Amino acid sequence: MLEIRKQLEETVPVIREYYDGMPAIGIILGTGLGAVAKSIEVEAEIPYEKLPHFAVSTVESHAGKLLFGELSGVPVMAMQGRFHYYEGWTMKQITYPVRVMKALGAKILLVSNAAGALNPLFRPGDIMLITDHINLIGDNPLIGKNDDELGPRFPDMFDAYTKKFRDIAEQTALELGIRLVQGVYVPLSGPNLETAAEYRYLRIIGGDAVGMSTAPEVIVAVHSGMKVLGFSVITDMCLPDSLQPVTLEKILATAATADEKMAKLVGEVVPKIAGIK
Ligand code: HPA
Repeated sequence: MLEIRKQLEETVPVIREYYDGMPAIGIILGTGLGAVAKSIEVEAEIPYEKLPHFAVSTVESHAGKLLFGELSGVPVMAMQGRFHYYEGWTMKQITYPVRVMKALGAKILLVSNAAGALNPLFRPGDIMLITDHINLIGDNPLIGKNDDELGPRFPDMFDAYTKKFRDIAEQTALELGIRLVQGVYVPLSGPNLETAAEYRYLRIIGGDAVGMSTAPEVIVAVHSGMKVLGFSVITDMCLPDSLQPVTLEKILATAATADEKMAKLVGEVVPKIAGIK
């Protein structure tokens, strides 16, 4: 992992040619969460291909650039477009941007994704506050020699999704009149959606929502000593006894219905978790 520090020494100076601020929060914008990006007052934009050691997203629904600017008065950097394991990237490539966020000074990771509901009480278009995860991707970004400068060999996943931030999000949603459900996010590698039998299994083991991302980035954030807040946009129901076919188009369209709600919630929550409101 000494390798990672060497890479950062090459990536950070390139970013500094575009932006010299210090982001308080690093944001990963998942599928169809465009409105959050629009509420950032962008000061600098860097396409991933300009950045040494960055992978380049292959999913069309994920644009590939870093945004730097202010969100509700808070300096932030945002990944517009994230990397998935199913694209063939290694766990280290997927999580490298989180290392970059930390290197630039960000102490908080705000992450979002689109997910299918395992919890029958959820509805498409709901926002789920992630309380915890079960990583079933089958790989881990921390495998290999540990670099103690970056974080501990055995990071503790206690409070991985910071309770204090979850309380703030819950209270804010209440004030805004936004329905906010809560639950455990379970990512698998994908890229296929899961079978009915797999959905039944994921529910039995304690999952509320299923997806293909987020856990790697959160593991690295925790390893780096960052605090985390995560949301899933519920795009479809994954109930084994009443399963309906889904398409990517449908998933994206449903994610888009939550766009404004998500932007409003995130816009209010960001200054509170940054400690300026
Ligand atoms: N599985 C099932 N449904 C989904 C997923 C997934 O990974 N992501 C969004 N909806």
